[in-house]
Amino acid sequence: MAFPVVRHRRLRQSAALRSMVRETALSANDFIYPIFVTVGTNVKEEITSMPGVYHFSLDRLEAEIREVTALGIPSVMLFGVPDDKDSEGTSAFAPDGIVQEAIRAVKGWAPELLVVADTCLCQFTDHGHCGLIHVHERTGNAEVDNDASLTQLVRTAVSQAEAGADMIAPSNMMDGFVGAIREGLDEAGFTHIPILSYSVKYASAFYGPFREAAHSTPQFGDRKTYQMDPANAREALREAESDVIEGADMLMVKPALAYMDVIRLLKEHFDLPVAAYNVSGEYAMVKAAAANGWIDERAVVLETLTGMKRAGADILITYHAKDAARWLKGDE
Ligand code: PBG
Repeated sequence: MAFPVVRHRRLRQSAALRSMVRETALSANDFIYPIFVTVGTNVKEEITSMPGVYHFSLDRLEAEIREVTALGIPSVMLFGVPDDKDSEGTSAFAPDGIVQEAIRAVKGWAPELLVVADTCLCQFTDHGHCGLIHVHERTGNAEVDNDASLTQLVRTAVSQAEAGADMIAPSNMMDGFVGAIREGLDEAGFTHIPILSYSVKYASAFYGPFREAAHSTPQFGDRKTYQMDPANAREALREAESDVIEGADMLMVKPALAYMDVIRLLKEHFDLPVAAYNVSGEYAMVKAAAANGWIDERAVVLETLTGMKRAGADILITYHAKDAARWLKGDE
């Protein structure tokens, strides 16, 4: 009998060997942990479809921030859940808005923690769209007005930087949003604040739990005139390219699991760091299956996050960050 010429199994013989040839290393350093902040006092309310994730009022937030930093997670991303909404999303850029107050508080407790502000209007508009609604004079159709939305978005980004945000992450998918925000930040003296652009954001069903959590479901229509068609990958390159030209410092693909090819595509075409957003619906699926005892949560989460890194993500935005950091510590 002829022996196999090549034996792949030789390098799988022991934990030491497997670890020596491992190509991808997951680390808490890779994580950005999203946090929902809300108005009021003494609120720590679990989000039904996202077990382990809470709404926090600012007086209950400090303990959470201390836990995040103790686990070695370098960054949080803040999402505001305000109680005052209007058609123009003005509470998104109020100096004493929920996100602005949260940024100030977090930087006070943990100056070293990198605070990323999600910059969008959907939580702050009464219609739930990510931009301003304009009723067309001729057709009478309601549409999301690109350029008017940019003005509000720039105001929001500048107010977040003024509150102390370390990085701006615009997520509303208006054309020209990176260029407009870059200019607005620069003019306000924030030339040093980086932009993490939600460059490739698909119109995805995986955002369901987030919209419940953030109360940001559109009250009419959907987001398909601004978020991308899940069927498209070449278009993702065009989206990312315009962001690069407009001055983005990092690119993001969102969601992650159903778009691993797009993560890889961006990694191969651009030299900027790539972030993957492991979104709420992806988290909810894992939690639901784990709660039923159908999967091993720890193994599935670490495998999934490793897969996203292997696909090309440098940064992982994930609701699993605290658990994963804890598990990775145990592994060391
Ligand atoms: C705001 C925003 C959304 C998410 C992040 N920023 C919702 C949306 O676009 O509908 C989703 C995050 C998640 O599902 O975890 N535009």
